Amino acid sequence: MNKVMIVLATATVFAAGVAQAADPEAYVEYRKAAMGAVGGHMVAIATRMKTGVEVPDDTALHATAIAGILESFPAAFPEGTAGVGKTEAKDAIWSNMDDFKAKAMKGAEAATALAAAAESGADMSEIGAKVGDLGKACKGCHEDYKEK
Ligand code: HEC
Repeated sequence: MNKVMIVLATATVFAAGVAQAADPEAYVEYRKAAMGAVGGHMVAIATRMKTGVEVPDDTALHATAIAGILESFPAAFPEGTAGVGKTEAKDAIWSNMDDFKAKAMKGAEAATALAAAAESGADMSEIGAKVGDLGKACKGCHEDYKEK
């Protein structure tokens, strides 16, 4: 079974109302899943731009999802979850939490600006510039807080 199928199988357990307090490694798992989703949305946007694939409203949809995930991302880094599990998150996050939050917010704002441009029917060069801004925000955080 691949990972998604395993998650789907466990989802029925969650649906039955079983809840438990998350251990620190679960936060690491969540961070990687959330960032993997952000990466997937970004690849979808870039693929559409590169290939001219036409899917109605997709750029705004993907950008809005990225904005939402980035806005809440810092909450997945509570005290006591530094250096646990197999992670690329640097310990510097916890000693610079205000800056980490600001960088997450900057990414969310860039994603929101991209969504707004896509919704208003901006041309490809403007969309491209907004995608570039978003990419810089990803990189800006990864440079300081993610292991290569
Ligand atoms: C506020 C900081 C921050 C921003 C902004 C950010 N990231 Fe990340 N990203 C991280 C951290 C920290 C990790 C490492 C997570 C871990 O391994 O625990 C990560 C990991 C990743 C990963 C690897 C996920 C995996 O499977 O382990 C991808 C892909 C990724 N980010 C894509 C992006 C993209 C694309 C953007 C911009 C749209 C972005 N990130 C914006 C902090 C950020």
